Amino acid sequence: MIQKPRGTRDMLPDEMERRREIEARMRGQARLYGFQEIATPVFEELELFTIRSGEGIISEMYVFEDKSGRSLALRPELTAPALRMYVEEGRSLNKPVKWCYFSDCFRYERPQKGRYRQFWQFGAELIGADTAMGDAEVIILGYDLLKTAGVKFVLRIGHLSFMRTLLADLTDEDKKKIRAFLDKREENAAINHLRDIDFDHLCEPLVRLCGARTLDEVFAVIGEIPEAARIREMFSILDLSEIPYEINPAIARGLDYYTGMVFECFAEGLGAENQILGGGAYRLAHLFGGEDTPSAGFAIGFDRVMVALGEESWIPWQPKVMIVTTNEGRNRALYIAGEFRMNGIITETDLMNRSFSAQMKAAGKNADYAIIIGKDEVAAGIITLKDMKAGTQEKLTVPEAIRKLSSA
Ligand code: HAM
Repeated sequence: MIQKPRGTRDMLPDEMERRREIEARMRGQARLYGFQEIATPVFEELELFTIRSGEGIISEMYVFEDKSGRSLALRPELTAPALRMYVEEGRSLNKPVKWCYFSDCFRYERPQKGRYRQFWQFGAELIGADTAMGDAEVIILGYDLLKTAGVKFVLRIGHLSFMRTLLADLTDEDKKKIRAFLDKREENAAINHLRDIDFDHLCEPLVRLCGARTLDEVFAVIGEIPEAARIREMFSILDLSEIPYEINPAIARGLDYYTGMVFECFAEGLGAENQILGGGAYRLAHLFGGEDTPSAGFAIGFDRVMVALGEESWIPWQPKVMIVTTNEGRNRALYIAGEFRMNGIITETDLMNRSFSAQMKAAGKNADYAIIIGKDEVAAGIITLKDMKAGTQEKLTVPEAIRKLSSA
């Protein structure tokens, strides 16, 4: 038997229905903010992803050569593709550009619950708005999308300038190492590394900075930095918006393109893979041949949101109807089903030439109502509507039945 590739999933109809419902809610919410959906290719030139992050990232990607020897990669995320598209489309775009996307990404990772090799991101990018308002709106949109999905989570916000200031005297390589430890939430490893490179005097400030939960505590460790006014402005906008958040200066973000504000959301009950959103302010356009353009965005791990939501039925209930006929009514079934479908009612017919009683049994299993079309109904030009749960039935005209089911 041929099985699906490791780290991928098949999705059965019930799951797809749940996913489409949540996806639709998120799309609707993003539209309210004026973010418009884009799509980019599933594969890109490999360089698009290595130009900022270096060759190291190749081990985490699906990389291949096409028949002309081009090096390509399946997209591991959509921020670089979105910015590549922004640069290619160029001047025709009005600023700020507000884009959102819902697409699959591919990462060659060790699969586990909530971590897959093909997974979906719902993300947004605000390109060309270098303001505290812009940063705040991106955070609020991410928060709102997760709220709309119905998931329980905490929002943590940091700023890369905090650690940048504290670690200013380290080499780039050591800064990167410390950042990687913090990203994995391994504070002790970060401290040990500071000791190893004879920066013991930074150990205590690092612990204090990681533990700081107010801006005053942060600036007490690193002093008033040039970005302080802008950072305070952004947080005061968030406070006025009544968005609950925690300040967390230890947020480092795994990707290399972030420059300023960074934020992450964590869901309850997901175990190790509990980060359901990651984002921040970044600069990428100049690397792809465009002007240096401040941008900010985030991506939601859609599959993790679905795991966090569980399987309870939060899809709005809609009655399901099955047309049940005797031989006399059989060839009218599709026509009458059409009338109900035209009115938005989910309606199925027997496609297997089953007997009347077998059709009734199927209706009992799969439908809320049966519409019976037998000899008498055909003669009188009506139908019998049977409530399969209550067992009650009544004779109605088609418009009467449609009215009744539409308000059910
Ligand atoms: P990221 O943190 O790498 O950021 O990914 C965003 C989210 O995608 C994560 O928080 C997680 O929920 C989900 N995710 C990542 N890897 C997997 C996986 N293997 N399986 C399931 N879910 C996963 C980015 O990708 C940035 N492009 C976000 C961004 C947009 N920053 C600015 N704009």
